[in-house]
Amino acid sequence: MRFFVDTADVAAIAELNDLGMVDGVTTNPSLILKSGRNILEVTKEICGIVSGPVSAEVVAMKAEDMIAEGRKLADIAENIAVKVPLTWDGLKTCKVLSDDGLMVNVTLCFSANQALLAAKAGATFISPFIGRLDDINLDGLELISDIRQIYDNYGFDTQILAASIRTANHVTQCALIGADVMTAPPAVIKALATHVLTDKGLDQFNKDWAQTGQKIL
Ligand code: G3P
Repeated sequence: MRFFVDTADVAAIAELNDLGMVDGVTTNPSLILKSGRNILEVTKEICGIVSGPVSAEVVAMKAEDMIAEGRKLADIAENIAVKVPLTWDGLKTCKVLSDDGLMVNVTLCFSANQALLAAKAGATFISPFIGRLDDINLDGLELISDIRQIYDNYGFDTQILAASIRTANHVTQCALIGADVMTAPPAVIKALATHVLTDKGLDQFNKDWAQTGQKIL
């Protein structure tokens, strides 16, 4: 499973990228706001750090305007994936830009039927939002599983990009289900390295080592 990092924080992206943890980046208007940066400038900077797909999201509501925005975003760098919302106009935009040979990430997906439409419109990525479904007492992971089965049943090559990942368990379950990609904030990716028994074990090793009175260096 590839790891995308869900942020427009350039320093955080660079840190994870240096560790080989970043196969791509996803951004959205909320993350651009959080960064305090200009969308064109920060996206260009991210594309200079990461060689994998970098999703940049359109904000227009009508297909004609989304297409124009998408083309402008795609001009930033070759690894841009234009992110469009899962609306009828977003699907029209997806079809046009995919036919142009651009990568398209269809976002804000909350149902298997929406994912089916995105695949038929030629999406490179479909972004089902797990955490936001869990927030309203639905099962986000079940959606990932349903989409996996439907895409496999019919041989769609649209990649499942599990989004709105909030927990380590989301990551494990997505990997078990067979999501192609997961995108998570830097803090969630870093938290994957932690385990209470690792901390406990290390504490004991440190105490025992001190008692040996030895040094390695
Ligand atoms: O990639 C989508 C993601 O940013 C949404 O996450 O936690 O805001 O639901 P969240």
